[in-house]
Amino acid sequence: MLVDGVVRSNVVAGQDVHHQWGGVVPELASRAHQEHIVPVVHRALQEACMTKEQLSGIAFTQGPGLMGALLVGTCFARSMAQSLGVPLLAVDHVKGHVLAHFIQDGTPRPIPAFPFLNLTVSGGHTQLVLVRGPLDMEIIGTTLDDAAGEAFDKGAKILGLPYPGGPEIDRQGQGGDRKSFALPYPQVPDYDMSFSGIKSAFRNTVVNGSAKDPEFVAANLKNLCASLEGHIVDVLLRKLAKAGRALGVPRIAISGGVSANGALRAAVRALAQREGWECFIPPFAYCTDNAAMIAMAGHFMYAEKRFADLDTVPVTRF
Ligand code: KG4
Ligand code: ZN
Repeated sequence: MLVDGVVRSNVVAGQDVHHQWGGVVPELASRAHQEHIVPVVHRALQEACMTKEQLSGIAFTQGPGLMGALLVGTCFARSMAQSLGVPLLAVDHVKGHVLAHFIQDGTPRPIPAFPFLNLTVSGGHTQLVLVRGPLDMEIIGTTLDDAAGEAFDKGAKILGLPYPGGPEIDRQGQGGDRKSFALPYPQVPDYDMSFSGIKSAFRNTVVNGSAKDPEFVAANLKNLCASLEGHIVDVLLRKLAKAGRALGVPRIAISGGVSANGALRAAVRALAQREGWECFIPPFAYCTDNAAMIAMAGHFMYAEKRFADLDTVPVTRF
């Protein structure tokens, strides 16, 4: 719940079921959404000390994502907006990640001026975005294959680590030598990126090492994690630096689940310091998927009266 752009509550229901299967199973995700949506909305209202009649709009994720899960949120939001007689705000999840920089929650934090350059890195997306205004964004670069978060998750799976792999690699790689296993740099023009070749090379390293020594992964876990993490961060940083210099935008920012990564956060801060740029990184709670960022996007859309029709349908890809 957001009041005048300030968070009153931000309830996140995790889905433990995906641990068991080593990834997101679409049918289980939508069933978990169904189970959680009523209790989550109830708790969000309770924690905000508000009644639903006090709400002035309902923001929801229209997409992109898995159809089953999106349908649950869309149907619920449409019904709630209709029954309360308030506007419906259909949010693009990936833009929501960018607008996480504007969330205020009582802890003073600078917000970026426009324009700024945002690197959005999540489990499904990797985008370099020129943000000219809250509702004026241009994607100037994107991954041609896997997302950065996917590279972390798949790398972790290769190592036998649980899902989601990003936080595991982050933890296990601490203190490791990121130069111990060399990985390739994809040759991708402009501001686009690619991670599937890195994942394949990483798999080959693990398969070949394990063929010679069955204890290879256990013996080298720290260095393997640090090498994969360091390499993904390096690939992201090169493109962010290139775009920042070419566009002459003195403000860089990161958001999305992977922006919780310790090495990436440190590298982006160091880059900004070297170049004399301002740097914006959301607190952890607003990096990974959260309700506040969707409400924040809804807040900006409300101000511009960008209301959605009550028969709005989910969109799996924009
Ligand atoms: O934004 P998000 O919560 O959900 C999507 O929209 O996809 O991002 C989830 C992704 C997963 O791939 C997860 O492994 C990654 O973010 N992630 C991390 C870290 N925390 C989450 N990757 C690297 N280091 C982390 N600390
Ligand atoms: Zn996300």
